[in-house]
Amino acid sequence: MQNVLSSQHPLVAHKLTLLRDKNTEPKKFRELIREISTLLAYEATNDLVLHQTSVTTPLATTDGNELSEKIGLVPILRAGLGMVEGVWNLMPSAEVWHIGLYRDEKSLKPVEYYNKLPVDPTVSVCLILDPMLATGGSAVATVDILKRWGVRKIKFVGILASPQGIENLQNHHPDVPIHLAGIDQALNQNGYILPGLGDAGDRQFGTA
Ligand code: PRP
Ligand code: URA
Repeated sequence: MQNVLSSQHPLVAHKLTLLRDKNTEPKKFRELIREISTLLAYEATNDLVLHQTSVTTPLATTDGNELSEKIGLVPILRAGLGMVEGVWNLMPSAEVWHIGLYRDEKSLKPVEYYNKLPVDPTVSVCLILDPMLATGGSAVATVDILKRWGVRKIKFVGILASPQGIENLQNHHPDVPIHLAGIDQALNQNGYILPGLGDAGDRQFGTA
């Protein structure tokens, strides 16, 4: 699949297995979400643009590099919240812009309930953070919002996806790379990823 990167890192595979386990408690679940997100963000940012600078060490002045792009982290509420901390630690000057969407239980269509983006874009590259790409409706809606805002370089960083979710996001936004810890086989009749990990929001926030 073009533009879909499922991590091959052994640490990601190990942590994903712990995350799936139904006996993993919310505290551990949140830690694993944070750790996996950090590893995925490291992989997803390997093409950030740099410009040359110079730096003075205690011994001499030498060439250095500085990030040229202003990064925005865009967690989709609620479940994307748990992905922010680890990624933000890697890139502390990033801005964080929250988008609130929930899936209507019957139609499975995303409903927007929070968006405080300013009129003009303040960042040049956005990483959308959401652990689950199920039908793909929430991801497609979020990319729509960010493109309308004026951001052109957008990446989706998630933990698990279904084939349908990937197809939906790629059909609507083929220019958006999708970074994942794993790709599962199917969706059940309620739109849950199988075998999946259950409800990523409930498992983080203890609301199951
Ligand atoms: C979950 C998940 C995604 C969405 C994925 O959120 O965090 O945002 O579902 O499903 P989709 O690909 O079919 O759109 P949910 O609506 O359960 O809200 P929550 O995070 O607030 O629990
Ligand atoms: N949202 C979740 O939290 N889990 C799924 O499997 C699908 C959507």
